Amino acid sequence: MKKVILLNASPRKNFNTAKLLREAEKGAQAAGAETEYIDLNSLTFKGCQSCLACKRKDAARCKCFWHDDLSPVIDGVLQADAVILGTPIYFSEPTALFRGFLERLLFCCLSYDGGTTYFQGKLPVGIIYDMNAPQEYYESTYKEKFKEIESLFTMVLHSDVSAVASCGTIQVADYTKYAMSLLDGKERLELGKKQFPEDLKAAFELGGKLGQ
Ligand SMILES: Cc1cc2nc3c(=O)[nH]c(=O)nc-3n(C[C@H](O)[C@H](O)[C@H](O)COP(=O)(O)O)c2cc1C
Repeated sequence: MKKVILLNASPRKNFNTAKLLREAEKGAQAAGAETEYIDLNSLTFKGCQSCLACKRKDAARCKCFWHDDLSPVIDGVLQADAVILGTPIYFSEPTALFRGFLERLLFCCLSYDGGTTYFQGKLPVGIIYDMNAPQEYYESTYKEKFKEIESLFTMVLHSDVSAVASCGTIQVADYTKYAMSLLDGKERLELGKKQFPEDLKAAFELGGKLGQ
C-alpha cells in the first residue's frame, strides 16, 4: 500500500489550506493509499540551523540530525511514496513553515560533493497554494515564480511536482467585523461559494493522482 504524507504549512488548522489538504487526503485514500496528516504549526522546529552534521564524511546520508520535532517527520517523508504540501501565500511566498520544512528536507539530501543529491529515489510532490490573489494574478505572476520552488524538489528529490492553486479564498467568515475594505467581502464570499468547491475537487484529484 502506498503511503502519502500531507503537511499543512498554514498556522490555521481548519481554514482554507487545511480544507484543501483534507480533500487531497480523501482523494489519496480513495485511490487506496495510507495517509498521514501533519500540522507543521503543531511541531516545534526551526529552519536549517547550518549545523552541517549531514555533510560530515562519516554521516548517514539524507538524514537531518537536528534534534527537534521535524527530523522524524523528514525521515518519514523521505520514506513515503508521495508528499502533499499545502501553503497559504504570505507576502507573495509560501509561509515560513513551508520554507523551514523545505530547507531541512532538501539540505540534508543535497550533496556538496558532486552529483547534486544523495537521494536515490524519486519522490512525487503535490503542492496546494491558496491565496487572496485572483486567478489571473496567480497565472500571470505567481505561477512562474513558484516554479523556482518546485524545481528545488525536482533537483534534490527527482520529484514530479503537481500544483493546485486556490485563488480568491475567503480569509474570514464575516468581513463586516474586520477592517478589510480593500477586499469586497460580499463578492469574496460569493466567489468562495462558487470557486472553492471546484478547488476542493482539484485537491481531491491531486490526492488521487499521488495516491495511485
Ligand atoms: C501575513 C499574511 C500575508 C498574506 N500575504 C498574501 C499575499 O502576498 N498574497 C495573497 O494572495 N494572499 C496573501 N495573504 C492571504 C492568504 O494567503 C489567504 O487568506 C490564504 O487562503 C490563507 O490560508 P488559510 O486559510 O489556510 O490560513 C496573506 C495572509 C497573511 C495572514
